[in-house]
Amino acid sequence: MRGLWQFPTNLLARNRERSEALDSSAPKTIRPITNTPMRKPVIAGNWKMYKTVGDSVATALSLKPLVANANHCEVVIAPVFTALKSVADRLEGSNIKIAGQDCAPVAEEGAQTGEVAAFQLRDAGATYVIIGHSERRQFHGETDPVIRQKVEAALASGLQVILCVGESLEQRHRGIEVQVVASQLRGGLGGLTASDLDRIIVAYEPIWAIGTGTAATPEQAQEMHGLIRRAFAEKISEAGADQLRILYGGSVKADNIKSLMSGPDIDGVLVGGASLSAESFAQIVNYKE
Ligand code: 13P
Repeated sequence: MRGLWQFPTNLLARNRERSEALDSSAPKTIRPITNTPMRKPVIAGNWKMYKTVGDSVATALSLKPLVANANHCEVVIAPVFTALKSVADRLEGSNIKIAGQDCAPVAEEGAQTGEVAAFQLRDAGATYVIIGHSERRQFHGETDPVIRQKVEAALASGLQVILCVGESLEQRHRGIEVQVVASQLRGGLGGLTASDLDRIIVAYEPIWAIGTGTAATPEQAQEMHGLIRRAFAEKISEAGADQLRILYGGSVKADNIKSLMSGPDIDGVLVGGASLSAESFAQIVNYKE
């Protein structure tokens, strides 16, 4: 019996072959799970630990008119905690949504020095929260069980979750990227029900592409996204998988967004560096123009 969130073995084998040929020959086509996706793309900017409150508000206000006509996607920005409420207040009534960059693993308020609970993010104006970013996994010791608790706390507080997964370069070179991502999905989401998963977005962010200027090729991204969708189809349902939005993150820029978005299972992007300037983020949001 296949384990929770385990990828089908034939896809695993195919992925291994492809990761061996990573630099030379990328796969040309991966069959999408659906030919008529109804998923509204999400283009999200993760501002990480950048900007003062004043800079955050100024960037958000510059961004607002530049993306005002972007009806083809949801636009989300994730400012630093301290700027979240000011930015949310100034963007009220606009088409830009707010995300927290993390939340506490418990839903209730309490004696947790330094933590910010999901309900407090919501109170400050967030509707999304990023959970399990590789920088939190790498530099802040976040493990899958903690990430699962955070996902549960966020869902209990009414936030939508952007769960980040992705392998390191070393893991990709060893050909175990699929197992790594499957294990992160199992670890972060394993205990949840199909209805909880409606409020989950998965962001595939290979660590080797984050902040390096070397994005995954559209084929590499599409391949992993296709596998993630199939894992959801097997675990939940084809219909549930069909609704799941899977974002790509890692060195997304104005000049590669179009080709990345051409992948049938690529439902948006999570942008770091190129989201810090209103102009460059707006170019990414408005990639269709
Ligand atoms: P970059 O776009 O700077 O590579 O960062 C990606 C990221 O980590 C978004 O969460």
